[in-house]
Amino acid sequence: MAEQDLVYRGKSKDVYRITEGPYAGKYRLVFTDRATGYRENGTVVFDPGYDTVVGEIPGKGAIACRFATHFFRLLREKGVPSHYIDTLKENEMIVEPAIPLSMPAGSPELPGAAPLMNLEFTWRNNATGSFWRRYPFVKPCKNLHRVVEAWTKGDSDILITFDALEETGALSRDEIAWSVDLVKDIAEIVSEEFTSKNLHVIDGKFELGRLKNGDGRIVLIDEISPDVLRVCNGYSPDGSGNCTAHEQCTVTAVSDGKRTIKNKKQVPASDFVSIFL
Ligand SMILES: Nc1ncnc2c1ncn2[C@@H]1O[C@H](COP(=O)(O)OP(=O)(O)O)[C@@H](O)[C@H]1O
Ligand SMILES: [Mg+2]
Repeated sequence: MAEQDLVYRGKSKDVYRITEGPYAGKYRLVFTDRATGYRENGTVVFDPGYDTVVGEIPGKGAIACRFATHFFRLLREKGVPSHYIDTLKENEMIVEPAIPLSMPAGSPELPGAAPLMNLEFTWRNNATGSFWRRYPFVKPCKNLHRVVEAWTKGDSDILITFDALEETGALSRDEIAWSVDLVKDIAEIVSEEFTSKNLHVIDGKFELGRLKNGDGRIVLIDEISPDVLRVCNGYSPDGSGNCTAHEQCTVTAVSDGKRTIKNKKQVPASDFVSIFL
């Protein structure tokens, strides 16, 4: 893998252009062991919720790659489009080159102007996390029927409305409708896969991109990451799909105007990832 073929180095993955062989023209998505987190009293604390790389966890890349491979193959069986082509090494996938949904700054010469970084799409089976913090009048773990939201990725993630995406020219109305349907379809497949293992997905996050080749359609790119799936083992729905266990499960607090919400029955990624490997 020559450095000149490096297309992008992210926090945990590297993207390389393939220049020869049967996959010439495709990309190699390399899952490294780099991990994000923070430092506390000089000690490294790994936490996928943070954006700074603080070290490496041996084996992390291979696990992430196998997990994503399982779900990408499942999507392919179900006829859902993604960038996935094949997995040839334990920490490398061959993928279709795509342009992540994003947009350059309209007036880059202006101080403070910034591009729209890759969009991220969240989907939510039940209300928790930032959704509940934003809308604390909602009962925790109320059924949200896979509501989809778009976020700008960057220093801080900002919710962006679909109208704003259309008006800024980032996505057309048809592309927004397609993207939302696609995210919901994938969310349903991922959720059902966990249900078959007696686990419940509360919410998750995906990245989409336009394929560089062919019709340029919008597909799932990047990975299906265990780190961004909130999974619980105490889902006890009423007839409307609202979880009735939240009184024993959910703990909220508010201090200095900042809300927090935790679910005691949430399963750490390390506990569910092995089921799919
Ligand atoms: N098929 C693809 N074509 C082009 N870029 C991709 C593709 N799949 C994923 N990417 C990009 O590669 C990067 C993967 O590295 P990652 O460590 O996740 O980066 P980041 O730090 O930006 O989250 C992401 O920015 C993602 O948008
Ligand atoms: Mg990423």
